[in-house]
Amino acid sequence: MKIAIVGIGSIGGTLARRLVTAGHEVRVANSRGKEAVSTFAKEAGAVPSDLKDVFNDANAVILSIPQPAMAALPKNLLAALPASVPVVDTSNYYPGLRDERIPALEDGQTESVWVSEQLGRPVIKAFNNILAYSLENLGKPKGGEGRLGVAVAGDDAGHKRLVMQLVDEVGFEPVDSGSLEDSWRQQPCTPAYCCDYTADQMRPALSAAVKGAAAQKREAFNTQLPVLFAKKPSHDEVIAFNRRFNAVN
Ligand SMILES: NC(=O)c1ccc[n+]([C@@H]2O[C@H](COP(=O)([O-])OP(=O)(O)OC[C@H]3O[C@@H](n4cnc5c(N)ncnc54)[C@H](OP(=O)(O)O)[C@@H]3O)[C@@H](O)[C@H]2O)c1
Repeated sequence: MKIAIVGIGSIGGTLARRLVTAGHEVRVANSRGKEAVSTFAKEAGAVPSDLKDVFNDANAVILSIPQPAMAALPKNLLAALPASVPVVDTSNYYPGLRDERIPALEDGQTESVWVSEQLGRPVIKAFNNILAYSLENLGKPKGGEGRLGVAVAGDDAGHKRLVMQLVDEVGFEPVDSGSLEDSWRQQPCTPAYCCDYTADQMRPALSAAVKGAAAQKREAFNTQLPVLFAKKPSHDEVIAFNRRFNAVN
């Protein structure tokens, strides 16, 4: 498959490497032109590209950029992309910590619905509820003991099927988490968010999410996360924090 990835940071970069390993032709771009991604592309076995050319002939697109950057993408960037091509949104909204505030999201709009509006086309939300460390290090072949789940939400059944296949190919168990509107269930501070859960653990965690509860936890999260990171926690300690903090209580 030909896969276009915009954003080669922790998540987009890891996905690029893993999808190349899975046998795909991966094209990568960021906001700074072909030259800026050429060293990474060479190391990863991907093809460097400008933003305007990265989608040419793509069978799937992955946007792995900060949430506010979605609104800064050139208008009509995806206009020539056939409707049959799925666009994956990996983004998460961290207001007050990393991201500038976005009024619609402050009012409770589902994050990926907002992304879909910025792009003017449907998206599939995936790879947002797994940490980059896990994506890089904890993948297992299908059937592997304790294989971790990755939630996949969206409205187009064909798009979702293809993205679930990609999740499987990079070593994770795809979990169908419902419609795009319902993808608030896998957003930051919800019970299924970045907890290294298997698919069997993730499904009840998605169901347990309470609408609006994550936004109420944000202030405490913005206070507690820097304290945690000041201690240079291990991955297991980050996961333990997420499981405790995100749980419904
Ligand atoms: N890190 C994680 O563990 C994790 C887990 C799940 C989901 N996510 C989410 O996935 C997204 C990416 O996260 P990340 O940690 O990989 O971020 P990151 O390491 O900061 O990388 C972001 C990438 O996006 C590119 N970018 C930024 N603005 C852009 C624009 N306007 N046009 C094109 N490219 C642009 C950056 O390159 P230039 O700025 O050089 O263009 C960079 O390559 C975020 O929304 C994040 O919340 C992260």
